Amino acid sequence: MHTINVLIFSGSPRKNGNTEILVQNIMAGIAEAGGASELIRLAEKKIHPCIGCGGCEEEGNCVINDDMQDLYPKITAAQRIIIASPIYFYGVTAQTKAFIDRCQTMWSRKYILNMRSRPTVPRVGYFVGVAATKGERVFEGAILTVQYALDAMDFSYGGELVVRGADKKGAIRAFPEELARAARFGAAIVESRQDVSR
Ligand SMILES: Cc1cc2nc3c(=O)[nH]c(=O)nc-3n(C[C@H](O)[C@H](O)[C@H](O)COP(=O)(O)O)c2cc1C
Repeated sequence: MHTINVLIFSGSPRKNGNTEILVQNIMAGIAEAGGASELIRLAEKKIHPCIGCGGCEEEGNCVINDDMQDLYPKITAAQRIIIASPIYFYGVTAQTKAFIDRCQTMWSRKYILNMRSRPTVPRVGYFVGVAATKGERVFEGAILTVQYALDAMDFSYGGELVVRGADKKGAIRAFPEELARAARFGAAIVESRQDVSR
């Protein structure tokens, strides 16, 4: 049996912030369950916002030459993917949104050019989010955005891990039960379980 590899994109500009602490615990859970993971910090990448030029509708490639060009093949090769972001104004961060918008290339491939990757193994994607407030609907916008992005990337949606009430950098450390839940989330991804959020 081959190792499950989980590709993780973190969209927080705060290094070692709450999203990243959560992600580190997820990575520990992945490793403990025998999987492997790779973390990519979107804030450290040069990702120009989509300019809506329609270039990707011609041949399925993005005309903007920046770090996204290295990320496209990684996304195409991935079996499991996590998009992690704190909530900024009821959505994902600008870094995350720029990354997602540049995946319009994949949307064009799939829905305009009919270049579906037709994966032989199931590809599943997840959302991980942190918010300062405890509003019931605080993650709704981000989840919709990520679900739609994952569809364009040819992943089915496997669920989310969200933590409310963490604001200051590192505040999430005060919620050990959430960090334990993050480790279980990571393990559940490797074990391909449906109940990832518990
Ligand atoms: C520009 C900005 C907008 C934010 N908007 C929201 C929001 O709409 N709702 C919310 O609950 N928290 C909001 N927050 C708080 C962050 O989600 C919170 O501080 C989070 O823990 C940051 O995660 P990080 O440490 O991974 O960067 C916002 C923070 C910033 C800087």
